[in-house]
Amino acid sequence: MPGTILDGRKLSSEIRQELKERIEALAPHGVVPTLAGFLVGDDPGSASYVRLKEKAATEVGLRAEMQHLPADCSQERLLRQLRELVQRTDVHGVFVQLPLPSQIDEELVLAEVAPAKDVDGFHPESVGRAWLGQESFVPATPAGIMEMLRRTGYDDLRRKHAVIVNTDSLVGKPMAALLTREDVGANVTLCHPDTPRLAELTRQADLLVVAVNQANFITADMVREGVIAVDFGSNYVDDPSAKQGYRLVGDIDFESVQQKAAAITPVPGGAGPMTVTMLLAHTVLAAERAYASRQA
Ligand code: GUN
Repeated sequence: MPGTILDGRKLSSEIRQELKERIEALAPHGVVPTLAGFLVGDDPGSASYVRLKEKAATEVGLRAEMQHLPADCSQERLLRQLRELVQRTDVHGVFVQLPLPSQIDEELVLAEVAPAKDVDGFHPESVGRAWLGQESFVPATPAGIMEMLRRTGYDDLRRKHAVIVNTDSLVGKPMAALLTREDVGANVTLCHPDTPRLAELTRQADLLVVAVNQANFITADMVREGVIAVDFGSNYVDDPSAKQGYRLVGDIDFESVQQKAAAITPVPGGAGPMTVTMLLAHTVLAAERAYASRQA
């Protein structure tokens, strides 16, 4: 039997409905959860991602405040504007879209986002706390996977083997931090896409998470029966039968891997929508915490 499709759009709309209710509950107290973000430069991918975040935020009832700075913006100017934003009590969540232009030191910038408002989970304190199993914001991509697995009942990963083909700070490392927490208890292997004999590792995976941006990188012979397969790829491939002449596919060969999988995320409509939803969820939580601490 083909594996269950983990429908990120459906789950996202359920979560966004819950967020609307939490936002409405804050309104009588004069709190409008506010997400503020910086886009530096004109990279079309980053610009469209920021627009997507802004649109999703306003649709659930958050206030969104995006600042667009020119590509040649100085580091000092970004840091100054960022500090001003972080200090404002009416701003609850702050993010800086990555990557930044080369004249700007990413580490310095990310360290300016106070952990209480660090809805992307990129501040070194947030990263450290995540690894220690302490309360913190974690990057939206792995947070979205964990939420998806919890809500679909595929979250019993104790002493199971999770194989993650990605080692970066946005996906692989924070995913490993979450999966090795005491209450989850998975065994984790982090690997690079060019690791020799990669298939020997991926074939051991009870949970396989892939983010390499290479179309159909994972084929059916690389997975075991019963795998839970999570795909973060986003690749455009030519398709003469499609209206635009191309279509979006993931890193996992969906049709063949679904035949062996217990559950699998589609692309589009799987893990992707959950990422933006988690950013919204983090902002609502930051606003609730800020309000609760004012009451205390
Ligand atoms: N660039 C690519 N993904 C992300 C993300 O999740 N957050 C930010 N701030 N930048 C990104």
